[in-house]
Amino acid sequence: MCGIVGYIGNRKVVPIILEGLKRLEYRGYDSAGLVYLQDGTLQKYRCEGKLANLEEMMDAVVTESRTGLGHTRWATHGAPSEANAHPHSDCSGNLVLVHNGIIENYQSLRESLISKGHIFTSETDTEVMAHLIEEYLVDDLVVAVRQAVQQVEGSYALGVMWSGQPDRLIAARNQSPLVLGVKDSSGCFMASDIPALLPYTRNVIFLDDNELAVLKADSWQVMSIENGQQVDKEVQKIEWNAGMAEKAGFRHFMLKEIFEQPQAILNTFRGRLEPETGMVQLPEIELSTEELQEIRRISLVACGTSWHAALVAKYWLEKWVGIPVEVDIASEFRYRRLLLGPDVMVIPISQSGETADTLAGLRLAKELGAKVISICNVVGSTITRESHGTIYTHAGPEIGVASTKAFTSQLTALFLLTLYLGQVRKTISDDLSKVLGHALIELPEVVEKQLSLLQETVSEIAEEFSRSRDFLYLGRGANFPIALEGALKLKEISYIHAEGYAAGELKHGPIALVDRDMPVLALAPPNDVYAKLISNVEEVKARHGRIILIGSESDARLHDISDYVITLPDIHEELCPILYSIPLQLLSYQIANLRGCDVDQPRNLAKSVTVE
Ligand code: AGP
Repeated sequence: MCGIVGYIGNRKVVPIILEGLKRLEYRGYDSAGLVYLQDGTLQKYRCEGKLANLEEMMDAVVTESRTGLGHTRWATHGAPSEANAHPHSDCSGNLVLVHNGIIENYQSLRESLISKGHIFTSETDTEVMAHLIEEYLVDDLVVAVRQAVQQVEGSYALGVMWSGQPDRLIAARNQSPLVLGVKDSSGCFMASDIPALLPYTRNVIFLDDNELAVLKADSWQVMSIENGQQVDKEVQKIEWNAGMAEKAGFRHFMLKEIFEQPQAILNTFRGRLEPETGMVQLPEIELSTEELQEIRRISLVACGTSWHAALVAKYWLEKWVGIPVEVDIASEFRYRRLLLGPDVMVIPISQSGETADTLAGLRLAKELGAKVISICNVVGSTITRESHGTIYTHAGPEIGVASTKAFTSQLTALFLLTLYLGQVRKTISDDLSKVLGHALIELPEVVEKQLSLLQETVSEIAEEFSRSRDFLYLGRGANFPIALEGALKLKEISYIHAEGYAAGELKHGPIALVDRDMPVLALAPPNDVYAKLISNVEEVKARHGRIILIGSESDARLHDISDYVITLPDIHEELCPILYSIPLQLLSYQIANLRGCDVDQPRNLAKSVTVE
């Protein structure tokens, strides 16, 4: 959950590092630092707090250096502080590194190194790696890094430099993402994520686990850490341009990404859904019709917002494909007894493709012989490279920590998968394929229109409720997970305590919370549980709860029940979970803003949880 940037070439390195870290700040931001090579020595600058503090520090520094590393940190070992900020050095100060991940055996390594006379200056696991490399360092940094990392248990993405070999940077990866930027005339780059590379190159190489790269101003080489053998890597072209990773004039990445949803939904189904017939093609699944027909159960595994997408998909898949579907929070999935086998399709869902618990669940599922098809937003991320196939959501880079366009794109991908499996297994008729396919094709335009229409109403409601201390979100059926998602959005960016509940559960306890100060938001689209939902809302009204209703623009009852109503156009009920997410995203965004919260970088959170 940290951000790494490295560069070696013919451009000034400090501006490249600072710009790159700025684009990675969403990955973690409690301290930052950088190092560059100047006249044969390594100059290190570090500070606590946001990246802006490091930028201010560097304003006073003049250097022509062309080689360096930078890091923005989300603390795992050692509180945020200058001493614990990366880069970290060996005893000599001639070897410096930055790290993302967790060294699980760092205590024993630290004790061993101290017994050999090494002096530590931080509480971090990362510093252990610097002294460990120093132990093996004679005259070749690559050899020393390879030997050192093989002593390590845990995850790492490393950037290493040594003044004894000033013409190179070393990148090494195990279970934490690291991508190389190449084929730029100015030199070579390394970074934790793609946005840091986009201003310079869109030609990237994704390092795999146990791989090490040697970057020089005019060349790169990738090798196996275990045997030092060269590894041929594919250079991939990223279609995202630098602008996409910018805010494009919006106040926050989150708002930009909310407004990108029509395009993200469209890009996710484009080329997969035949407009006329509604037939779906998902060649990336790489399973034959026979294999797909042999699937007896589906297991969805995810965390956070991605787990909410999985919960919605359960309703769709069981209803339209007729296969039993289990949904697990990944951190629970990986520790319970799993009854998996070749007749089970396991679907890890992840925006980042790097979430540690989801990745661990994927690996377990593969060990047990299940077919693993992931749904992911990041090309070449670890989860995608370890799956048997990946259905990519084409949402583009999602920078805001609170997931929005990735979520509705995940729902789109899961809806496509439902159609596809139903068509392959003949549980969805051709007529129904046309109806559902057309409903999906029309959705981006509906969302586009609502994004402009909803603003005023949502802002008024946000004004009314921004000072609330608690919120209840209610939904039924496939909209119950949307209530969970709406509550998560609100709590993670506005810090208001919010709970999502199945509306039918209200009487089993939560209704005790209802009074004049408790806002209760209910999702009331027209469907077969609408009447039940409304009676739940009436129970809240009878106890003087303050109600916010989201429902159909053709439902006159809504305004009889509540003064706070958000209406949406009537679409096919199966797609309401996607459409009804939009006002919840806007509401949480507006409330967070009114509360002066840091919408893109909420406290205590990071965009990608790459540790357990
Ligand atoms: C969503 O708003 C949160 N930022 C978080 O719950 C996120 O969905 C979760 O950490 C899973 O991340 P992933 O989709 O990248 O695996």
